[in-house]
Amino acid sequence: MGPKWLKDAVFYEIYPQSFQDSNDDGIGDLQGIIRRLDYVSELGCNALWINPCFDSPFMDAGYDVRDYKQVAPRYGTNGDLIQLFEEAHRRGIHVLLDLVPGHTSDQHPWFKESAKADPNEYSARYVWTDEALWGMEGRPYIAGMTERSGAYMLNFFASQPALNYGWLHVTKHWMSAMDSPEALATREAIKDVMRFWLDAGCDGFRVDMADSLVKNDDERKSGTAAIWRDIRAMMDDEYPNAALVSEWSNPVLALCDAGFHMDFYLDHQCNGYNTLLRDYETEGGDHSYFRCDAGGDIKRFLQDYLPKYEQSRESGYISFITCNHDTPRPARTLSAAELKLAYAFILTMPGVPFIYYGDEIGMRYLDLRTKEGGYQRTGTRTPMQWENSVNKGFSNAPSDQLYLPVDESDDAPCVEEQLVDADSLLSETRRLVALRHAYEDLQADAPFAVVNDDEVEAPFVYRRGGMVLAVNPSSAEKRFEGDELLGKELVYQIGAARVTDGCLTMPGQSFAVLA
Ligand code: GLC
Ligand code: CA
Repeated sequence: MGPKWLKDAVFYEIYPQSFQDSNDDGIGDLQGIIRRLDYVSELGCNALWINPCFDSPFMDAGYDVRDYKQVAPRYGTNGDLIQLFEEAHRRGIHVLLDLVPGHTSDQHPWFKESAKADPNEYSARYVWTDEALWGMEGRPYIAGMTERSGAYMLNFFASQPALNYGWLHVTKHWMSAMDSPEALATREAIKDVMRFWLDAGCDGFRVDMADSLVKNDDERKSGTAAIWRDIRAMMDDEYPNAALVSEWSNPVLALCDAGFHMDFYLDHQCNGYNTLLRDYETEGGDHSYFRCDAGGDIKRFLQDYLPKYEQSRESGYISFITCNHDTPRPARTLSAAELKLAYAFILTMPGVPFIYYGDEIGMRYLDLRTKEGGYQRTGTRTPMQWENSVNKGFSNAPSDQLYLPVDESDDAPCVEEQLVDADSLLSETRRLVALRHAYEDLQADAPFAVVNDDEVEAPFVYRRGGMVLAVNPSSAEKRFEGDELLGKELVYQIGAARVTDGCLTMPGQSFAVLA
C-alpha cells in the first residue's frame, strides 16, 4: 500500500496565492506558508498539498508550467521551497507538490523549440499533426500560430499543449507509439522533474489530470496506467517513502491499474461524493445529504462508493476532500452546523482525507470575476481569513492590490475568533482531526461497513474496525438499537447523543462515535 505515513495522514491543501503574503505585495508566498506551519500543525494536519508554485505565465493559475524546476518568483525561490520542506518536516508534516505531467504552458522552452520549423530534439515532445490545415480529427487543437506546419493538441486551455506520451492505437503516421523513442523521452523527462524535487526534499506529488497522458487510450486507460506503473516502480525503487495522489476520480483504474497510492473522490455531477455536499445542480433542488431536511439519502452515496471501495481497498486509498481549488466551497450552501457533521463524516472515512484551506473556518464561496483562468472556480480561491484586521491578516498590501479580494462581509469567519470559541467550526474540526489520530480504527486502513442505512426512524450507522459511528443530519430525533452497541461507550459526539441499554438516541443534527 505504499508509505506507512499515509495510514494516519490528514492533508491540508494550500493554494499558495491566497494563504499568507509575507512581503506585502498582495500575493501569498512560500515564506508566508512557512510562517503558518504551526497553525497547520495545531489543526492536526500532518501533510500538505501545495498547488503549482512553479514558473508560469499564469493563464491557468500555474497549471501552465513554464519551468518545472524553478519556483515562480512571486512565491519566492527554490531555496524557500527547500526551507519549507525542512520546516514542515521538523513539525512532522509531509509535503506534496503539484505535478502537471499532461501539458505545459505554450511558453515552456520545450514547446517553443517544438514549434520551430526545423526539426530538433523537442519536435516530438508534444502531440502534433504534420499539416497545419487539417485539424486533429475532432480533438481540441491549435493551428496557424507557428512556423512549423502542423496542428498541436490541447490538453486543457488554449495555452496548454499536450505532451506526447504516445498513442495506444496508432492510426495515422504522425502519431507516436507509446514505446517510440520520443514518447519514452517525454516519460523520462517527467521522471527527471520528479527526481529533481524528491531529491530536494519533497514527499511526493498530487498528479494533475493523471488519466490524460496517452492518446487514443482504451476505456480502461491501459496505456496511461502502464506509464504510471512504470513511474510507481521507479518510486518504489528510489523513493519508497514518497506518495502519489491522482486527480482521476476513478479508484479502480487509478489505484488498482495505475498504482497510485491515493485517488481523489471528486465532485462529479451525481456521483456519490456530490450527493453529500453539493447536490444542488440536479433538477428538483438541493438534496445534499448533509443539508438539514433537504430530503437527502445516504443510499445514493453508498451505491456509488461501496463498489469502488470494495474493489480498490486492497490497492490504495480513496481520498475524501472537503473541497479543492476547482470546486465550490461547501459553505456556499451549508451552515456551520451542517459542515461539522459533513467533516465528521469525511474525517472518519477510510482512505486519506484532505481539508482545503479555509474550509476549517467555513470560508465562503464569493461571486467574483475570473482571475488567472479561474472562471467560476475563482470564488473558491480567495485569501485566507486569519484575523479581524486589515485584509483579514492575509497581507499588508493596499486592499486593491490583493491577488483576490478578501471576504469583507461583517460576519466573514476568521481563525482568530474561532480559535477562542469552543463551539466554532474550527474547534470542532481540530477535535475531529485529533480523534482520527487517536484511534487507528478511524484511520486509512480499518474496514468500513454499513450497519444501518434506513434513516426513516434511525440515524445512518456505520462501522470502522471495532468502532461504531452514527450521524443524523436531519432536525428530527432518531434512535437505533442493535447488538453492535453492546458494551460500547460514547467517545465523541456532536449534539447531545446518548446511549442507554443498547439504545442510541440521536437528537437532530448530531454525530456520535462509540468504542
Ligand atoms: C486540473 C486542475 C485544474 C487545472 C486543470 C488543467 O483539473 O485541478 O485547476 O485547471 O487540471 O491543468
Ligand atoms: Ca507575497
